Amino acid sequence: MRVVIENSAEAVSQFVADRIAQWVRHHPSCVLGLATGSTPLGTYRELIRLHREGSLDFSAVTTFNLDEYVGLSPSHDQSYQYFMQDNLFQHVNLSAESTHVPDGLATDLASHCLQYEEAIRDAGGIDLQLLGIGTDGHIAFNEPGSSLGSRTRLKSLTHETIRDNARFFENESKVPRLAITMGVGTIMEARQCLLLATGENKAEAIQATIEGPVTAQITASALQYHPNTIVVVDEAAGSRLQRKDYYREVELAQLEWEKSNTP
Ligand code: PGA
Repeated sequence: MRVVIENSAEAVSQFVADRIAQWVRHHPSCVLGLATGSTPLGTYRELIRLHREGSLDFSAVTTFNLDEYVGLSPSHDQSYQYFMQDNLFQHVNLSAESTHVPDGLATDLASHCLQYEEAIRDAGGIDLQLLGIGTDGHIAFNEPGSSLGSRTRLKSLTHETIRDNARFFENESKVPRLAITMGVGTIMEARQCLLLATGENKAEAIQATIEGPVTAQITASALQYHPNTIVVVDEAAGSRLQRKDYYREVELAQLEWEKSNTP
């Protein structure tokens, strides 16, 4: 795992947006895996800015989102379909057919999950997967105890996730209890993963993800087996890491190497 510790949440967004922009420029028809939540908002704002200034074209890009609440329609302002429209899709030149978010109102949820996996495969797999992390260490809605080989499926949310997400709803009782989520196994097939975290409340989950054992109790820790993952954190989210100095040294060397190898 490459661990990048930035000075601020803004710098995290900038780093991640730069990586995505590079991918899109070098591979205009790439497949992006996208995430919702408050953490990637700054990244999406920067991608929109780059698009508006004319330096980023999404016309050939395909996207797949990680998850969606069961029972919320796309027009519900807390559905992830709504979130993506509001915070990215409607502001860039992505066509409606090229964006995919699981359908929380699907009548046959089990076959919808299978079709979602098939659609990812048919698109050639995910090139770059953006990920947030829950305070319980989840990636997407793969809650503690999820199989590390899991595929897109239904998942019951933990009390911790329901409590964390209640801030977006009128109250805790309005948070859906079920979600459709890509599995850990689905995420592990992405060619590159970018896990981002900001704020003190993520520090424990980030420490466990990077320096703890690989365990289904912290599903993000499965990324230790992923051959190409970058974890990007601000100082607060990285504050519990034991080997901070080493990650900083390695990152400086990496940036030097990238500079001298960029044509
Ligand atoms: P957040 O959510 O970005 O709103 O903190 C992350 C997550 O739960 O995966």
